Amino acid sequence: MPKSKRTRKVSVGKFAIAIMAAGKGTRLKSRFPKVLHEVGGKPMLEHVIASAKKVVAAEDIYVIIGHEADLVRERVGATGVNFVLQAEQRGTGHAIMVARDALAKYDRFLVLSGDVPLIWAGTIERLRDFHRAQKAAMTILTAEVENPHGYGRVVRKNEKGAEVAAIVEQKALTPKQRKLREINSGIYAFESKPLFARIHKLKTDNAHKEYYLTDMARLLVRDKQKVVALPAMNAEEVLGSNTRLELSMIDQHLRMAKCYQLMAEGVTIYKPETCVIDSDVEIAPDTVIEPFVQVLGASKIGGECRIRSYTIIENCEIGDRVEIRANCVLDQARVEPGALIGPFSRLRPGSDIGAGAHVGNFVETKKTRMGRGSKANHLTYLGDALIGDEVNVGAGTITCNFDGKDKHATVIDDGAFIGSDSTLVAPVRIGRGAYVGAGSTITDDVPAESLALGRGRQVVKEGWVRERREKSAK
Ligand code: UD1
Ligand code: CA
Repeated sequence: MPKSKRTRKVSVGKFAIAIMAAGKGTRLKSRFPKVLHEVGGKPMLEHVIASAKKVVAAEDIYVIIGHEADLVRERVGATGVNFVLQAEQRGTGHAIMVARDALAKYDRFLVLSGDVPLIWAGTIERLRDFHRAQKAAMTILTAEVENPHGYGRVVRKNEKGAEVAAIVEQKALTPKQRKLREINSGIYAFESKPLFARIHKLKTDNAHKEYYLTDMARLLVRDKQKVVALPAMNAEEVLGSNTRLELSMIDQHLRMAKCYQLMAEGVTIYKPETCVIDSDVEIAPDTVIEPFVQVLGASKIGGECRIRSYTIIENCEIGDRVEIRANCVLDQARVEPGALIGPFSRLRPGSDIGAGAHVGNFVETKKTRMGRGSKANHLTYLGDALIGDEVNVGAGTITCNFDGKDKHATVIDDGAFIGSDSTLVAPVRIGRGAYVGAGSTITDDVPAESLALGRGRQVVKEGWVRERREKSAK
């Protein structure tokens, strides 16, 4: 629950940030609230909160929630922000009315939109400072865009000054106003007093029968209050996302920005437009990312690695000089320097691959430590296994870790050699330097330096084919 909003004293000069996030997002045609739709691998609202938190403390951020409020609260609650419930969503003006108790104790506050996720902290600060310098009652962050359709348009008092006469919503534009290219970003700064003295005057006599926050511009101007516009330095920063197409454009923008950042830091990315790299990912210099790679979550990749095409890496830690060949899937895995993975390997959660180890074609690992220089090059399943250094796991080896009820561990000590097509029935331990003959089913521990054979002895019947042929000829 929010902290006691009514009683907390706010020091002079402090300001709050309100984030409007209560809307349904009808145009997305989704079961889920709009602000939880993801761009750059994170819900839009999380991006907005992250930028806001760079400017004010979480305790001065108020997120206005309504549609699927519990879901939104659950998803972003860990950020420590306050929530204000707008149980019925009757427009952006109504959202601020509902947050009155929380916001009126500040002299001024900024309003951000949960569906305008690219906003930078630096721009929020610029808006705050410009608003103060102008001594305005309301400052609107605006942008000149190629295609302004769908946005509210800013009508300036005249061409020179920053002063605004009104904001006109798309559906209310006159033919002449339709030519205006300066849009309202949905991001504002307000002085609390003049705003809350008039907010009850908002009406719902518009296309959506809603209270529009944008109408505050006209109301304030009518009472000789100063309303100004501040164009964003970068129009892309204030892109809104009302539709799936706009969502994908914002996502693409974030992805490209991430790739550019990584390239500037010394990472080679040949076709950035094909790669999906989440914003929290870290990659060290001289690593090469080939086309169609995804690096997700909080993954960290060292330097001088090569990540080949069609590989997906999620929440992994990859050391320096690792090569991950094509078509691998790595999830919550650790890979130490110089290891070689793939092609077509699957490293599931808890996989821990030692320095210089090889995990090859069609090998699956889960909760498995593979020691330094060990190899499992072909067609193998290693689950719940503790494998020492310099172990060779032959093609087709399977750890039988599940007995139908419980999981059991397989231990393979340093230098052991597992012949191809062996099944190791856990719990079982293969001692240091031991050999397991190909095709064995191993159910008992194998002591160090011994050979274990767990298969039928080979029988050879000489001349058998010839005899059979002669028999059938009779
Ligand atoms: C709004 C602006 C428009 C501007 C555009 C920029 C109004 C009337 N129009 O239009 O001038 O160009 O943003 O992107 O404000 N919300 C609530 N409670 C509500 C309604 C909305 O919290 O009752 C939230 C939504 O979740 C969303 C934000 O407010 O995050 C904006 O609402 P939305 O319906 O998307 O407004 P737009 O039509 O995009
Ligand atoms: Ca919107």
